[in-house]
Amino acid sequence: MAAAYDDSGQGQPIVFLHGFPFNRSMWRDQIQFLDARGYRCVAPDLLGLGENTSANEINRMEDMARDTAALMDELKIDSAVICGLSMGCYVAFEFVHLFAKRVKALVLAGGRAEGPDKAEKHSREQQASNVIDKGFAPSVENIIQSLLAPRTLTEQPEVVARVRQMVAATDPLGAAAAQRGMAVRRDYSDVLSSVLVPTLIISGREDGVRKPIDAETLHRGIRNSRLEIIADAGHLMNMERPEIFNEALFSFLGSVGDREGR
Ligand code: MLT
Repeated sequence: MAAAYDDSGQGQPIVFLHGFPFNRSMWRDQIQFLDARGYRCVAPDLLGLGENTSANEINRMEDMARDTAALMDELKIDSAVICGLSMGCYVAFEFVHLFAKRVKALVLAGGRAEGPDKAEKHSREQQASNVIDKGFAPSVENIIQSLLAPRTLTEQPEVVARVRQMVAATDPLGAAAAQRGMAVRRDYSDVLSSVLVPTLIISGREDGVRKPIDAETLHRGIRNSRLEIIADAGHLMNMERPEIFNEALFSFLGSVGDREGR
């Protein structure tokens, strides 16, 4: 179970699953926005990341999904809108696979369905060893450059600083365990057709890590889905363009129809 989480607001629960190598603080703007509009926002630190330290050598996406379900049990939440970003989408797919009845609706940001090929597995193992040996200091600037859109890099120093701070605060052992977990994740392509709940797919137009074409594949595979592509946003589109991301989320949640009091 998640050792650290935020739980604020009342109403339809939304569970936010963060990306890698980040933590639950990446959802700050969404939580503030939706908490004020009648939603309950729950955001755990996923296994080995943020304040949820773990000594495991590998933390699988399935482990993170089971932890999320256990946290929902503890918080007495039967079903929720599950909102993942990137690695959080892999966890969301595992969650749908394991606990379909507990998913009210799905939000997939910066995600993809394909499993890892040989080259990706190899690269993840190398990155896991590197981070254990050297920490994030040698790679943090490259990570920032690859994740954020050019306009974010030049015009939003506070977002750049937040991302730098999150990466720097990530425990190298937890990061390596999550990398290894992503290296053995399944191919989720076959999960797509089994997703029957309303789904919002969001992509940053400038995302070089998960390109809009990955989002289009998800959109084609999930029948009850809508696709939102955000301009001037990279992989961390929820932090880079929070107003647009929040409005897309709010309008989607409205169509799912579950604000408190409705
Ligand atoms: C993330 O942002 O969670 C990562 O890009 C996921 C990944 O490495 O596939």
